[in-house]
Formats: sequence, C-alpha cells, structure tokens
Amino acid sequence: AYVITEPCIDVKDGDCTAACPVDCIYEGGRTFYIHPEECINCGLCLSICPVDAIVWDHEIPESQRHFIAVNKEFFDSD
Ligand code: SF4
Ligand code: F3S
Repeated sequence: AYVITEPCIDVKDGDCTAACPVDCIYEGGRTFYIHPEECINCGLCLSICPVDAIVWDHEIPESQRHFIAVNKEFFDSD
C-alpha cells in the first residue's frame, strides 16, 4: 500500500483525498493517513501531493519506514 510520510505533517494539502478513487485517505491530527487495506495501489495520489509525502511502502526510505506502522496504528486504534 501507499503510505503518507513526514512531509505531510502540518502541510495537509488534502488534494490527495480528491484524487483517491476509493476514498481511503483519512484526516487525523497533524497529518493524513492511507488505510493500508483499503488502498488499491492505483498510484493516482502520488503525483498530486505538492510535497511528495506519499510513497510506495516497498520503496520507502529507511528514515521514513516507521510511517508504515504509524499509518497502520491510526486505523487499529479506531
Ligand atoms: Fe488512494 Fe490510489 Fe493513493 Fe491508494 S494509491 S491512497 S487507492 S489514490
Ligand atoms: Fe498530505 Fe500531500 Fe495529501 S500534503 S494531505 S499527502 S496531498
């Protein structure tokens, strides 16, 4: 699944939510989150984000890896 990482924090542009065909991008606190099971990996949100915060979890840089867990935990605690 795709994951929203650090650059989104406090930017929250929000255009990615309009691009997502399955509405799996949710707002929460200082950032947005992609639901890891609802995301269909279409990639449409990727180029929309002005700060390039959205990354494919298989290509996530080491420094941003913990955002995979951060995204997952956001939905687990619902
Ligand atoms: Fe939505 Fe597609 Fe982005 Fe997944 S990759 S969050 S389905 S727009
Ligand atoms: Fe955040 Fe980029 Fe979406 S800043 S809300 S991931 S368009």
